[in-house]
Amino acid sequence: MDLKNLKINGARLKNTLEKMAAIGGTPGGGVHRLALSDEDRQARDLFIKWLREIDLEVTVDEMGNIFGRRSGENEKWPAVISGSHIDSQPKGGRFDGILGVMGALEVMRTIQENRIKTRRPLMIVNWTNEEGSRFSPAMVGSGVWTGKIDREWAYAREDIQGKKFGEELKRIGYKGQKKAEKWPVQAYFELHIEQGPILEKISHRIGVPKGIIGISWYDVWLEGKANQVGPTPMEGRNDALCAAAEMILKVEGLPGKMGGNMVATVGEIHNYPNSRNIIPGQVRFTIDMRSWNDELVTKGWENLRQDLTTLAARRGCQVRYEEVWKVKHAPFAESLVVRVKEIAEGLGYPSHGMISGAGHDATYMSQVAPTAMIFVPSIGGRSHVEVENTKWEDCEAGANVLLHCVLQSANE
Ligand code: HGY
Ligand code: MN
Ligand code: MN
Repeated sequence: MDLKNLKINGARLKNTLEKMAAIGGTPGGGVHRLALSDEDRQARDLFIKWLREIDLEVTVDEMGNIFGRRSGENEKWPAVISGSHIDSQPKGGRFDGILGVMGALEVMRTIQENRIKTRRPLMIVNWTNEEGSRFSPAMVGSGVWTGKIDREWAYAREDIQGKKFGEELKRIGYKGQKKAEKWPVQAYFELHIEQGPILEKISHRIGVPKGIIGISWYDVWLEGKANQVGPTPMEGRNDALCAAAEMILKVEGLPGKMGGNMVATVGEIHNYPNSRNIIPGQVRFTIDMRSWNDELVTKGWENLRQDLTTLAARRGCQVRYEEVWKVKHAPFAESLVVRVKEIAEGLGYPSHGMISGAGHDATYMSQVAPTAMIFVPSIGGRSHVEVENTKWEDCEAGANVLLHCVLQSANE
């Protein structure tokens, strides 16, 4: 069969995405499907049902990563894997992660129904806990599978209610028997929304990232002195929340101070006892720093930590830091980046080289296998929000590029 003109079924992809968006769907049109939640389990169950419908061999490993495998003519040759993540941000979007899993499923469905034989085996994957919102850090499923995160450390991670990752994985029935341990991979492709404004601005349908920026996550704990708000004079307070407020603005000012291409954000804060008439005694907040330049992030943290320590002392608060997670910038395999670009252009989709400011499981995969990603535009550049949106024709275009990337790598 002339594979060149093979195309995925766009209507079926749309239907699959809409079915998934209904699991954890929010009134605002987004998705609330946190890792290891009942919604995550429901979506996983549906995903596995679909994998079995096209006769893929399904395995679930000890991190809950779900793999579907299709035989190749040479069973022992390293497979071509494509996939992403089913979990979402709190009140997140209908495309982040799930487009990569459903896109890979649509590719498999297209290959299966056209009875295409490939030289290599094909695999599809759903990585557990890519978002790292409920259980930090992010990309824990792919991190353990690639040998970059310790399994027991991951199992012990707790959510805000003190529930443990390993117990929640068991509770939803996805703590598999199979070891979460990498095997040789010919190529890994991940289709994903851009989650930024660039592609829409230049009206390009396909983004071709050369890699993913480095990400560092820190937690900051502050211990002040709680007290009654009324009788306690303003002078001499050790108000942990006011200390945090000053610190948060220091985080915001860091990229400008470092003068490099960097972002730094405080996204989460917890204030205790959090009562209107008690001076805040304890605060914990998170810091997310990112740059392609790993050195800049390291220097930035050293600089910031000094400022925060000085500030805490001035306010009579104890301060403690934890480096929760750190991944370097992840360049993709040049040969696969070229492949994505050539296939996109060959299909008539103008493509644009870029860097991913968002993290993905491809960060870890690029450390153990040739890896590349395919981006499609985010409407309004919005993501991690309920209004996250991408045109169906762009989803279809991205899946067509994925189809031909997978086929080319599967037959080399
Ligand atoms: O943080 C990220 O960029 C990804 O969404 N986990
Ligand atoms: Mn994602
Ligand atoms: Mn995300």
